[in-house]
Amino acid sequence: MQVHRQVRAVIEAPPIPARQRTVPREVQQLRPSERRNLYTPNNHNLAPARFELSAQLPVRYVVEECLGVLEPSSEALVRDVDTSAFPPMLGNTCSGGRRLLAVDHNIAKLHEHKIRKYFQEHDVPIHFHAIQADEQNKDFDQVFSLAAAMHEFSINRRNEPVIAIGGGVTLDTAGLACNLYRRNTPVIKVPTTLMGMVDAAIGIKTAVNFDQHKNRLGTYCAPMAVFLDPTFLSSLHPRHVANGAAEIIKMACMRDGDLFEALESYAQTDGYDFQGDLPRMIINRSVELMLQELEPNFWEAELYRLVDFGHSFSPHLEMEALASDFPLLHGEAVAIDMALSTCIARMRGLISQRDHDRTLQLLIAYRLPIWHEKMTAEHMIYALESTTRGRDGLQRLPVATGELGGATFINDLTNEEVSQALNNLRTYAQKHTSLQLC
Ligand SMILES: NC(=O)c1ccc[n+]([C@@H]2O[C@H](COP(=O)([O-])OP(=O)(O)OC[C@H]3O[C@@H](n4cnc5c(N)ncnc54)[C@H](O)[C@@H]3O)[C@@H](O)[C@H]2O)c1
Repeated sequence: MQVHRQVRAVIEAPPIPARQRTVPREVQQLRPSERRNLYTPNNHNLAPARFELSAQLPVRYVVEECLGVLEPSSEALVRDVDTSAFPPMLGNTCSGGRRLLAVDHNIAKLHEHKIRKYFQEHDVPIHFHAIQADEQNKDFDQVFSLAAAMHEFSINRRNEPVIAIGGGVTLDTAGLACNLYRRNTPVIKVPTTLMGMVDAAIGIKTAVNFDQHKNRLGTYCAPMAVFLDPTFLSSLHPRHVANGAAEIIKMACMRDGDLFEALESYAQTDGYDFQGDLPRMIINRSVELMLQELEPNFWEAELYRLVDFGHSFSPHLEMEALASDFPLLHGEAVAIDMALSTCIARMRGLISQRDHDRTLQLLIAYRLPIWHEKMTAEHMIYALESTTRGRDGLQRLPVATGELGGATFINDLTNEEVSQALNNLRTYAQKHTSLQLC
């Protein structure tokens, strides 16, 4: 695998094609004297009005690796940020001003002093707002609370971006609050979890949970900038490290055999905490692949999405598992889904037995589960049906094919195949993961 330079991906979404305007040509061509005639009270030939509008929403932001982002020598969080493209109503740069910080409560415990010192050294006044970063509190109350803080702060949208520092819960909540407050207040995202770095921070989706449904209320809203600092990961709980690793494995399986091999090598090192050069390269490559997949399809018009690998059976599994004795984190449910999808690919002869085994072994090596007690045929068939509805009636199930890093989609998976794949996976899990078989 090649050594990667510092990641600095500039996202520029292609413009939405201009559509034809259909203000009736007859009306456009009328002379002013004739137009006045339109307003006669007895115009019985009045056609129903119809106006079709079209505009472009430019998206442009930077995802930049920035080691030691909170070190006083770093200017990342206080330097001018180019806002020429997004949000469109802003001026060219955000410079000066104060900063409102939306900070994960655990990051606050660990780094509040350092964060305060950083802004003090740069002579930037701040307001510190803690976000209760757990799924149970990922709701509108926290959005309102941050909106209230912005209001009280009298935030200036032109030169005072909010800075969100934390895991996916914090970034999603802050992203939504910023998108709603005065219809868009710029936000800079600083992910502190692996899931945040390789997924939650770098796209344009925001959301909170609603009525027991995950991420049911949300928006598309690009951040102004994203700064990736893997040194945050040294304090992250190993289960959350594994949780983020699942999304990296996803990208490797679908896009890059070299990344897969790098993950295999790294799994053999002691107590992986994603510190050091190899993990940096792994994170940067995963981010690069993810951005390549997201950029041409920001608004998800295309439903054949490789990034959905591991996300076909897992949404239902994750919700079912919540009510079980073994609740799953998002990445853990994704890992189990990837294991099942890999069994399906093997049954269809799309991948070799060796690559099937390597994929399942990689998940196990990163201490990810490949089985759960809720993996019944009934639940998984229901899960696939529900996902199929969300994918406009086609399964569009991403699976590996050919060499590692190759992918295709299945649209005709039968219930019998789902049951058979589950049997195969259960047998494999019983043989290789006695501890993980709940
Ligand atoms: N918007 C998107 O595109 C997108 C993509 C993927 C996931 N998500 C969302 O992200 C959320 C999951 O994010 P997550 O996995 O980062 O979990 P999280 O935000 O819940 O963080 C996990 C835990 O780690 C703590 N923590 C954060 N950084 C830490 C650090 N450096 N050291 C020690 N502890 C730390 C947090 O306080 C929390 O307790 C889910 O709600 C999911 O829906 C969103």
